[in-house]
Amino acid sequence: MKRLNLSLLLSPLFFLFGLFFFNLPALCQDNSNNVSSSLPDEVNKIITVSCVPCHTSEGGLMSKSKLNFTEWTKYTPEKQKEKAAKMYSEINKGDMPPKKAREKNPEKIPTKEQAAIIKKWSESFPPDKK
Ligand code: HEC
Repeated sequence: MKRLNLSLLLSPLFFLFGLFFFNLPALCQDNSNNVSSSLPDEVNKIITVSCVPCHTSEGGLMSKSKLNFTEWTKYTPEKQKEKAAKMYSEINKGDMPPKKAREKNPEKIPTKEQAAIIKKWSESFPPDKK
C-alpha cells in the first residue's frame, strides 16, 4: 500500500518532467523511430532528419497541432494530400524548418534534391473525390 502511494505521488512529477523534456523539440532527435513508416522511404529519411523532431506527438504544441507524423495514418487521404502539399510549400519558401532551427542546424535544411523528392511525393496523391 505504501509503495502504491509513493508511485501515485511521483507520477505527476514524471509527467511534468516528460512535458518539459519533450517540449524542447529541437533537442530530442531520437524519438522518431518508425513514426512515419507509412511514408515512402526516401520521404521518411528526409523528414526524420528535418521535420520529425518537432512534428510528432512529442513535439511542441504549435508544431504538432499543424502537422503530426504520429497521427499521419489517421489523417484522411484528403488531409494527407493537403498536408503534403503544405510541407513542400513550407520547404520551398524556406519557412520550415523555422528560422531558429535553420540557424542552429543548417545541415538539417532539406537540399534542393530533397525538396524535389518532397514535391514529387506531394503531387502523387490521388485527386480529391468530387
Ligand atoms: C524546430 C521545430 C520545427 C522543425 C524542425 C520543423 N517545424 Fe514545421 N512547424 C514548427 C512550428 C512551431 C509550427 C507552427 C508555427 C508556424 O506555423 O510557424 C510549424 C508549422 C508547420 C506547418 C504548418 C504551417 C501552416 O501555416 O499551416 C507545416 C506544413 C510544417 N511545419 C512543415 C514542416 C516541415 C516539412 C519540416 C521539415 C522540413 C518542418 N516543419 C520542420 C516547428 C518545426
